[in-house]
Amino acid sequence: MSKIRILSIFGTRPEAIKMAPLVLELKKNKWFSSRVAVTGQHREMLDQVLEQFDITPDYDLDIMRQGQTLFDTTIRVLRGLEDVLGRERPHMVLVHGDTTTTFAAALAAFYYRIPVGHVEAGLRSFARYFPFPEEINRRLAGVLAEIHFAPTNNARENLLREGIDPRHVFVTGNTAIDALLMTVQPDYVFAEPSLKELDFAKYQVIVVETHRRENWGAPMAAICEGIRTVVRKHQDVIVVFPVHPNPAVRTVVYRELQGEPRVLLLSPLAYSDFANLMSRAYLILSDSGGVQEEAPSLGKPVLVLRDVTERPEAVAAGTVAVIGTTAEAVESALDRLLVKQEAYDAMALALNPYGDGQAARRIAAGLEYYFDLHRERPEEFGRG
Ligand code: UD1
Ligand code: UDP
Repeated sequence: MSKIRILSIFGTRPEAIKMAPLVLELKKNKWFSSRVAVTGQHREMLDQVLEQFDITPDYDLDIMRQGQTLFDTTIRVLRGLEDVLGRERPHMVLVHGDTTTTFAAALAAFYYRIPVGHVEAGLRSFARYFPFPEEINRRLAGVLAEIHFAPTNNARENLLREGIDPRHVFVTGNTAIDALLMTVQPDYVFAEPSLKELDFAKYQVIVVETHRRENWGAPMAAICEGIRTVVRKHQDVIVVFPVHPNPAVRTVVYRELQGEPRVLLLSPLAYSDFANLMSRAYLILSDSGGVQEEAPSLGKPVLVLRDVTERPEAVAAGTVAVIGTTAEAVESALDRLLVKQEAYDAMALALNPYGDGQAARRIAAGLEYYFDLHRERPEEFGRG
């Protein structure tokens, strides 16, 4: 029997990190022939991940331009994939999450009537512009997709409420946790020299990551102001801030924090450095989606620089708090966790609401079921 051809398409750092375990899993699977197309929506940040997981794409659209707009990205992904999909004609396209690559790749596959599998499906903030444009990207991907790999039961419920056929929804856990478990090691040695030298026992290390479009400009300046106040007040705090390369982010962060003692402004870290940094840090301050999934399983509190989140599971469990983006909110939330041990302990809970490291295996099993390779639907996927 000839193999079923699966084409995974991704383009940004978070998609690459979360698709890597699945690409590796599909490579081992006897039923599938797995190929990879990257859009290159990100360049250096994507390449860092491909290198770590030793993935060589079969296609690279290389679309990134400095300061690209949503229009640029959407058009260039669609145009590039017209050729790739026309040539490859896979039996299924896999996309991940909620970026412009995700939406445009799902649309391109639909135009060829190629079924789409959506990995990390069903996340919803229920706020059209928060995060922007991701909330709408993932909803559109949900409409375009034929099968949906929901990381949690909550995500599955969101999809069912939108009328998606339960037989096409598989609860799998999030592959972010698969990647994390492959990467975090107790004896890890950092590649980044300033992290190699950092004394994690002496200092309370706060990791900062912020890049969301809705935080560009005044909110990001306010976040930096809150950080500056806290660092000046607490002499035993060190902030490690790998700054996203987007000029809209870099300009504000460097203007506000460059030269501040005990604030390390770094280039984006390789995922292996970043994951191991989180595992040694005291706490994390971020507007990132992926970080909200990873930190709970490392037992690290996350203060989320947003007004709403599509990832409510760890908030409900107490490890993640959504604090907004004002300087006062950043200052008071950090102060509290730095000073009140019981407040810190109540949040520093090791939890796994997002998975057990087996998500890629479950997604591969879901694909086998979809392609009629097994008659029984495995029970672990939730009722179908
Ligand atoms: C994108 C995603 C967002 C995701 C984020 C992860 C969209 C609309 N947004 O946002 O959902 O959370 O990635 O990081 O899809 N750049 C570089 N090198 C890189 C990557 C980016 O220089 O490796 C710079 C370029 O100037 C580029 C800019 O950052 O034009 C913006 O990149 P883009 O992918 O458009 O948006 P992000 O803010 O990264
Ligand atoms: N990350 C990384 N290096 C960094 C910052 C983050 O590898 O310097 C990882 C992080 O561990 C997570 C992912 O990047 O897996 C999150 O990506 P990002 O915050 O860019 O996007 P989001 O998840 O918000 O879409």
